[in-house]
Amino acid sequence: MRPVRAASAWQRWANLRLLTDLPAAVDRLQLRGGASRVDLGPCPVAYVAEPELARAVLDTRVDGIAERGRFYRDVARVIGHTSLVTAEGDLHHRLRRAVAPAFRPDAIAAYAPTMVERARALGATWPEGGEVAVDREMARLALDIAARSLFGADLGDELEDFSTVLRSGTRIFYREALPTRLAEALWSSRWSPANRRLAASRVRIDALVKRLVADRRREVPDGAPRTNLLDALLACRDPAGRPLEDDEIRDQVVTFLFAGHETTAQALTWALVLLSCHPDAGERLVAEVHATSGRRPPGPAELPGLRWTRAVVRETLRLYPPAWFLSREASAATSLAGCPVPAGAMVTVSPLGMHRDPAHWDRPEAFDPGRWLGPEEPGAAYLPFGHGRRNCIGSSFALAELPLVLAALLGDWRIEVHRPELVTARPSVTLRPAGRVSATVRRRR
Ligand code: HEM
Repeated sequence: MRPVRAASAWQRWANLRLLTDLPAAVDRLQLRGGASRVDLGPCPVAYVAEPELARAVLDTRVDGIAERGRFYRDVARVIGHTSLVTAEGDLHHRLRRAVAPAFRPDAIAAYAPTMVERARALGATWPEGGEVAVDREMARLALDIAARSLFGADLGDELEDFSTVLRSGTRIFYREALPTRLAEALWSSRWSPANRRLAASRVRIDALVKRLVADRRREVPDGAPRTNLLDALLACRDPAGRPLEDDEIRDQVVTFLFAGHETTAQALTWALVLLSCHPDAGERLVAEVHATSGRRPPGPAELPGLRWTRAVVRETLRLYPPAWFLSREASAATSLAGCPVPAGAMVTVSPLGMHRDPAHWDRPEAFDPGRWLGPEEPGAAYLPFGHGRRNCIGSSFALAELPLVLAALLGDWRIEVHRPELVTARPSVTLRPAGRVSATVRRRR
């Protein structure tokens, strides 16, 4: 373990070149072990490679580490300041408790039929022997599932608006990394094309969310049993008995539609890419699906039996963790594994770096779902859903959705991604494939 001291001014600016190949940069930082500094221009940044320390940082169990930070302040511009993702302290605690019922095992089991039914409905639109854009199809599917399960809403046609807001959001990271006065001015200007698109999309999304809430209030009278996330939000009361404000509800709806579809869409896309690279693993998955549920659609009861399918999901999340980069902020000067960290520094952890670190994994670059079939639980170096009090509240949702959707789609369809070995990752807010991922689809006889 080699602590790295604060960089010289020249080094800090030279570090900006790391942004041109983030996966390689993360690999190198990870190999340094412990914690190290990688200041970007005027922005002090610390990278934590050691798994237990990374978990402590994410859980803010380290003195001088704040729950959120500048990255999340910028995310708030896209998803709102009172979102579960961006809120801190009491508000975060209250929101987390409010939404928890929508992620209990009985709620997840109730969403499962929708997950499978929507996957099959999507497959029914595919042309036999034709070509589909897997990344786009998985984004539509994941959004459709999140909207229907969590909010009882059908918003297929509004996908474009959500994508627009999200695309604007992905620039946040690069702004953090390029904090020159010019970039700042361009980004902040109301007149920049990106910000005008963002503002226009926000107006349409706000109208859509208002409609969803009004519909739900009409459909579920007070006192009736509450079933999904929107119901849980509408039922939430603070200690003084006050309900959530409309803006707070709006922020949660936007947050959960984003967080609940972008990550799972990337995971499904990467799983299909990996299975096309490894046809034996794909055939084993199909054999398991047919042996478990025959030609019937799989349901929540079949999940425990889909051991290989679940192992494929875990291995996909290891090699391509959609949340590849997590950040906190130093609220005071502190030290991490002997590395001095000034107040205001961005403190980063990368599941991508950690999941491919040879210090923690045997053959880290190999796609080997078999590593997940043993009885032992994953070690501290596996954290696709983060850790601690800010961990992913949707992990049980995702861990039901991903195997069920793969089982439903691959049970019915052969999905052959074109040149899968050439698909590379382009990290932005999530770990997306660079460019379009096309596949030929053929119905299984
Ligand atoms: C493969 C799918 C997913 C992955 C890899 C993933 C990953 C993560 C990670 C790593 C965090 C922690 C971020 C941090 O520590 O800063 C997080 C938080 C969160 N995720 Fe997920 N997520 C996934 C799916 C979902 C789904 C399906 C939902 C909702 C239905 C969701 C909602 C959230 C929310 C609301 C938070 C913020 C929690 C808080 O701060 O209290 N995620 N996710």
